[in-house]
Amino acid sequence: MAIRPQHGEVYYPSEEVIARARVKDWEAMYKASIEDPQAFWAKEAEELEWFRHWDQVLDDSNPPFYKWFVGAQTNIVHNALDRHMKTWRRNKVAFYWIGEPGDTRTISYRELYNEVNRFANVLRGLGVKKGDRVTIYMGRVPEIVVAMLATVKIGAIHSVVYGGFSVEALRERILDSESKVVITQDGGWMRGKVVPLKDTVDQAVVQTPSVEKVVVVQRLGPEVKPVNMVPGRDFWYHELMASPLAEGPSPTEVMDAEDPLFILYTSGTTGKPKAILHVHGGYMVGTYTALKYVFDLQDDDVWWCAADPGWITGHSFIVYSPLVLGVTSIMYEGAPNYPTPDRWWQIVETYGVTAFYTAPTAIRGLMRYGEEWVRKHDLSSLRILGSVGEPINPAAWKWYYRVVGGERCPIMDTWWQTETGHFMITPVPTVPLKPGSAFRPFFGQVAEVVDDEGNPVPPNTEGYLILKNPWPAMLRTLYGDPERYVETYWSRFPGRYFTGDSAKIDEDGYFWIIGRVDDVIKVSGYRLGTAEIESALVAHPDVVEAAVIGVPHEIKGNAIHAYVVLRAGLAGTPELEKELIEFVAQQIGKIARPEKIHFVDKLPKTRSGKIMRRLLRAWTLGLPEGDLSTLED
Ligand code: WTA
Repeated sequence: MAIRPQHGEVYYPSEEVIARARVKDWEAMYKASIEDPQAFWAKEAEELEWFRHWDQVLDDSNPPFYKWFVGAQTNIVHNALDRHMKTWRRNKVAFYWIGEPGDTRTISYRELYNEVNRFANVLRGLGVKKGDRVTIYMGRVPEIVVAMLATVKIGAIHSVVYGGFSVEALRERILDSESKVVITQDGGWMRGKVVPLKDTVDQAVVQTPSVEKVVVVQRLGPEVKPVNMVPGRDFWYHELMASPLAEGPSPTEVMDAEDPLFILYTSGTTGKPKAILHVHGGYMVGTYTALKYVFDLQDDDVWWCAADPGWITGHSFIVYSPLVLGVTSIMYEGAPNYPTPDRWWQIVETYGVTAFYTAPTAIRGLMRYGEEWVRKHDLSSLRILGSVGEPINPAAWKWYYRVVGGERCPIMDTWWQTETGHFMITPVPTVPLKPGSAFRPFFGQVAEVVDDEGNPVPPNTEGYLILKNPWPAMLRTLYGDPERYVETYWSRFPGRYFTGDSAKIDEDGYFWIIGRVDDVIKVSGYRLGTAEIESALVAHPDVVEAAVIGVPHEIKGNAIHAYVVLRAGLAGTPELEKELIEFVAQQIGKIARPEKIHFVDKLPKTRSGKIMRRLLRAWTLGLPEGDLSTLED
């Protein structure tokens, strides 16, 4: 029975979309998947290669420490690369890479395989062993994929730190993960400027005792960006790759399905970023399944996930699942509007991109320049579009649908998190869409919107979004802090996964994500914690106290506003505001820059001393709850 929504504006898929799609009858497939989730996931897992089959699909004897494909052995790199060498895919293009200045590279699966094998040998030669951590701090160049896969191939664990993070943020993540090796670049291009990645690493590793070696990829060369190489510590990637260290057979380490794959730091409610841990087996099965059904990728597709490999979207949908699925991808180094606002559309046209995935903030940003920039290009190769990272407002959805997608391409508004590994609330191409709604839970998952007591709320009522079923690609724990894992995700509503988001479900059963209900702010799709920004501010000698809030912003989704109490006798000047904004950029990265600093004499607090951020938000927005006359103090 087809879904026929009765309320709101609805967009139906075309005959072409339906004819091609893998999922013809979403309802039947969803129903079967939640009647027996283990059978659903086991069937997907059978499509991949394992060195040893599992004894048990799910071990739920010790919740919330779930285990999937228990007893199985594999390595995600075996499925992403090695197994393709046995088929015609070895000659298929894995990546078309485009540098921001216009230089290009085409990399086949076989070339990627060879490069990863050699670099895996190099890492072994540098003393990296199974279970060791390797920090990767790079831009969007093919070698970041090589670095990630080579690390995983030898059983080590990568921690990719987004190249936009500053010295302090990088140092904190290297220290926490106790990485032995850091892999970086001399620099990268962004908006015509050099991003000095190696310089940042140099400053970060002065106080990180675990780091023994730094490997540097030469992206720019000494004429563009000279770097300082410390003898005995720093090595050029290209020299290592040409050395005897790289030679010889390079076996793929046999891993248990539950062995760690990577850690990825993300922001939470309290100060320190949380190290989300994913594992080989479940993450591989989950991300593969999600990409396959939701973007319906097949052998003639050219897939472009325009995220950065430094975030979960890049891990799952630039690096791992596209390779496991064996598709051809685009990777572009630079900014969407550089040198002109049609840079992305130019790439879509040149490479015949068929499936394109980005964030609402990018769409809103490009909308500003007007449709002519899009119309200049033939985008008829596109057949499916995607959105991730924050709610997409209906106006942006419709522009994306009409102008970019030519009214042919369904938009997959995918809700998910670093923790979930892949899409949890998402359409598939054949279901009717409502602009602004992420449709319903993915296969195998049941989601609910509940009140404070955990009871489902009536239709169109805001509540907390929770997930009821464990799933293979779920995070396993917070690395080094299992108690915080239980506390953060599983204690608010015992036995159920608390997402930290609020949402509504409408009369047609469509989910509408509203936003975070904790102290996390999504700014341009980036996930930031108020606590991190506050501790950056109070590190400034003039600041005594700080409180940070998110305020709705037309392009960024949210903007950061900071309320700051200065040391007695100091005045809040425009110069100091600028200085503090730059100070935060130095401490965390430009993405965390507050848009506005409000200087105040004191912060509103509850009797127990908790800062009332809700009140600050109301003040900023001029809402009635911000009216102080109703407050005692
Ligand atoms: C938000 C990004 C609305 C949400 C993959 C979530 C979304 C947080 C959507 C996770 C969407 C992500 N609609 N909100 N389609 N996708 N979010 O860990 O608040 O960087 O909790 O993972 O992004 O951010 P994270």
